[in-house]
Amino acid sequence: MIRYENGSFLLSTPNTSYVMQVNRDGYLGHLYYGKRLDRPLVQDFLRSEEIPSPSVKPGEKVSFLDNFPFEYPASGVGDFRENCLEISDSEQVFGFEPLYKGYIIKKGKPALKDLPASFGHDCETLIITLEDNVRGVELDLGYCVFNDCDMITRWNVVKNLSEKDIYLEKALTLCMDMELEGFSVIRETGVWAREHQAFFTQIQPGVIATESSRGESGHEAAPFIGLVSSNAANETGEAYGFSFVWSGSFLGKVWTNSFGLSRLVMGVNPNNFRWKLKAGDEFTMPEVIMTYSSEGLGKMSRNFHDFIREHIIRSVWKDRQRPVLVNNWEATYLDFDDKKLIEILRTASKAGLDMLVIDDGWFRESKVEPEGGLGDWVPVKSKFPDGFTPVVEEAKKLNMKLGLWFEPEMISIDSDLYRAHPEYALSFPGRVPALCRNQLMLDFSNPDVLDTIYEKIATQIRESHFSYIKWDMNRPICDAYSRYLPADQQGEIFFRHVLGVYKIQEKLLMEFPELLIENCSSGGARFDCGMLYYSPQIWTSDDMDPVERLSICEGTELIYPVSTMGAHVCKNQNDISGRLVSFDTRGLMAIAGTFGYELDISKLSEEDLKKMPAQIRLRRELDKLINRGEYYRLSSFDRRGYRIPGSIAKSYDCMEIVSRDGSEAAVWYMKPLYEPDSRGSRIKLKGLVCSADYDVTVITDADSYFNPDTALLNKRAISGEELMNAGLCLPVIHGDYTGVLILIR
Ligand code: DGJ
Repeated sequence: MIRYENGSFLLSTPNTSYVMQVNRDGYLGHLYYGKRLDRPLVQDFLRSEEIPSPSVKPGEKVSFLDNFPFEYPASGVGDFRENCLEISDSEQVFGFEPLYKGYIIKKGKPALKDLPASFGHDCETLIITLEDNVRGVELDLGYCVFNDCDMITRWNVVKNLSEKDIYLEKALTLCMDMELEGFSVIRETGVWAREHQAFFTQIQPGVIATESSRGESGHEAAPFIGLVSSNAANETGEAYGFSFVWSGSFLGKVWTNSFGLSRLVMGVNPNNFRWKLKAGDEFTMPEVIMTYSSEGLGKMSRNFHDFIREHIIRSVWKDRQRPVLVNNWEATYLDFDDKKLIEILRTASKAGLDMLVIDDGWFRESKVEPEGGLGDWVPVKSKFPDGFTPVVEEAKKLNMKLGLWFEPEMISIDSDLYRAHPEYALSFPGRVPALCRNQLMLDFSNPDVLDTIYEKIATQIRESHFSYIKWDMNRPICDAYSRYLPADQQGEIFFRHVLGVYKIQEKLLMEFPELLIENCSSGGARFDCGMLYYSPQIWTSDDMDPVERLSICEGTELIYPVSTMGAHVCKNQNDISGRLVSFDTRGLMAIAGTFGYELDISKLSEEDLKKMPAQIRLRRELDKLINRGEYYRLSSFDRRGYRIPGSIAKSYDCMEIVSRDGSEAAVWYMKPLYEPDSRGSRIKLKGLVCSADYDVTVITDADSYFNPDTALLNKRAISGEELMNAGLCLPVIHGDYTGVLILIR
């Protein structure tokens, strides 16, 4: 619901409200975001006595600008806090001061030009227009209210109505001035193979920031920032979450002054950003989706999950059973050929898998180093003397689907494309560009580059009928100089690069609407809502060790639904951690995600091979629950010390997905280190029906679950009220690194 009354805007979802007000001089102030208010605010949260507006005290305009809770702050004219929009022109004149002009309220959600964005019909949009008459610039602040997920989204459009070109030096989407005493900021940090580690920092005067300047969202940070109250836990206390629908460099920042006023901002990172806005043109800033929960972090996550499923993911695969696949990366790395793939295909077909994904290496000579071939995208003769034909024919015979790996944003110096068009790579004049993984970045601001790369990908899909592509990105952007853009638009490279990625993925989906895209960036370095607009699943991390995955998954699940998270059964011993984990545990834990295998299944032991069909069947049985169910975090295995302030360190990890009607739940439990002479854990479940009786089965291996001789032995009948209030008493699980899956039906 959106209401306007006497200069105040009230935006409400079933459980939240957001309030703004225009002051006497036309400055738009932010009053409140939090638990739903049904009656308008009666107090003066703009503090007009304490902070008099310039028309009351013209001599103290700077004090006003530096203290007023701005909805979208001015820059360069007296607000010394973080501002959102900085504008200059060819004479280097800065300064911007937007004042209220008007508003409109309309049904539905507009699309955002060239950008991924949330969508919906049963929602309402508010556009507030601010203007700076000195500059001749208008700013539309966009808000959309989604009732079904307690979500409000924000974006902005800057319009240059003047007659001269201007430059956007900075264009952040969101600003929120709040009083956050006792709150902590949640950020996600990490590195390759250890992505999405959530961590909490108590708010104090000064800056707490999260950012990427790499041209992608990156391993080190996720385009998300959250806030939790001091008493918050998984299902209690207050939590705010802000997630950016953008896949490039970003900035999230909370700046707190000595009066205890915090300003939270989020948007495209101003580093490497300068956009020329020609007279008459518009620029749209990517969207931020935001939610508030008075029921802890759990409700915040569930709001995000529902919203992403209903209003971000468009793929036809969203609710379909995704293919259970085998990916040859960790099975072979770069050392494979058509014969090896056919061997894997045959084993995969016997085990009941749906698809083989041909990973990195099919276009490169090298069997050892990731070098050469990027940009050419043709199967290399030494590995595929007859192209993909033999593999495609075999897959057809076995009724299996095929997927193919690409890294479309890159070019190798050793490639025909580079030899023909060195100007397609980004590089500063006179300077040798820095290689990373032996590769250079393509100039995605150049439409010829986009067309060339699109055709190369589309040709492979057309010729060999690939039904899936894995879109990888293994290096950040540097040497950002484009031979295509003029001098005063070089600052647009980082932003235009991401637009180019979106453009190619959009075009692919137009030509191949059934194509399943899995995005990936050196593991989980580009897991964000922007990518989810094009692909319903993203590779979570190259680290598939189920113990390492506990904190990686917990951090990812804080924002994204489990059904979007790529999860594969890895080899034993794991290549990254060196850890040995049983095939049963590796299988059961990977079921919580888009399931697949990433090891040489043609070399599996007879015993493990026999277990594969049961694991695949179990994943398929749980598909609907995983895709549509509600997520509850029951316990965090606290290894790295990043956890909700005030929570207790636990020796086990536990996560539940429960159907919305409470008829069915799956619980993943792992106690990584066995504790001698300890008791079995007691876990209190969520979301069940108190009066119902459930069959509870603790599954230690998928095989015995389907075996009629053993299945009954593991099953117990327990009431919903007992499971939720008294808890489920688990048996002591012996050994390290052992996980179980508990089914409640
Ligand atoms: C990084 C990805 O995360 C891996 O899964 C794999 O595709 C490699 N790149 C291939 O180079």
